[in-house]
Amino acid sequence: MRHLMNPLDFTTEELDRLFDLANDIEKNPEKYAKKCKGKKLATCFYEPSTRTRLSFESAMINLGGSVLGFSDAGSSSASKGESVSDTIRVISCFADICAMRHPKEGAAMVAASKSSIPVINAGDGGHQHPTQTLTDLLTIRSLKGRLDHFTIGLCGDLKFGRTVHSLINALSRYEDIHFIFISPEELRVPDYIIEMLKEKNISYEEVIKLEDSISKLDLLYMTRVQRERFFNEEDYVRLKDFYILDKAKMELAKDDMLVLHPLPRVNEISVEVDDDPRAVYFKQVQYGVYVRMALILTLLELV
Ligand code: NCD
Repeated sequence: MRHLMNPLDFTTEELDRLFDLANDIEKNPEKYAKKCKGKKLATCFYEPSTRTRLSFESAMINLGGSVLGFSDAGSSSASKGESVSDTIRVISCFADICAMRHPKEGAAMVAASKSSIPVINAGDGGHQHPTQTLTDLLTIRSLKGRLDHFTIGLCGDLKFGRTVHSLINALSRYEDIHFIFISPEELRVPDYIIEMLKEKNISYEEVIKLEDSISKLDLLYMTRVQRERFFNEEDYVRLKDFYILDKAKMELAKDDMLVLHPLPRVNEISVEVDDDPRAVYFKQVQYGVYVRMALILTLLELV
């Protein structure tokens, strides 16, 4: 039985198969509409989420399966003191597969070790968010036709943003990727990631101003400042509007640069950018459903 904890749990060949499947689902949805008939997905969300949870639920419903679960820790037995290990043993009796989001790093891993059904990490604290990364990779691959030979700028909260950490990890396996990390000093990419890049000899630079590097980028990954992971509100308020991508900055970018964002957006992308054909963050949401459908089918061994 397989779980998904980290985007690196799949080899690049396995990812190619997963993305081909997702593209086929996009083209021929009716072929997959009953594949999960009789199967149940449990969404165990100990932390707020709209997109990720609904994306999983929509994916399972599109496959003809059903969904059950909870959407905040307060409405689960965690509020009575139940451990994640006990909860997953119980959920294993109710469902065939589980997507779990938890504020603590490593929680999904603990669950997987005790589970008799596949567990998908739907975000663990500031650590990893593998299904967002699968979404990001599928979006890039579908719109650009490849996952290598890119200069990618990651901009915003690179310290606490788990989607950023997962995406760097995943892209570091492809050829000729150059990372430009764009963040204020306080929100730089964690040292362990920089160490990993040095070890693998992957080129990167760290800059503060978005204007200075935007013209070099093939891909721009914008992120929100992660308010809930700050220790004090003052720091958050000081940093929250550090970057605002607007029309004027988009003028400096390549004609075929893609703008991605895991959403939710706060102020970091001005709404005036939404109509720019290079802004693909809402398309990304749709790709997220296809890739989660492909993932559920793969983990349930229905393909
Ligand atoms: C991201 C997350 O939860 O880390 N959202 C998402 O799943 N699409 C990004 C964020 O909350 O900023």
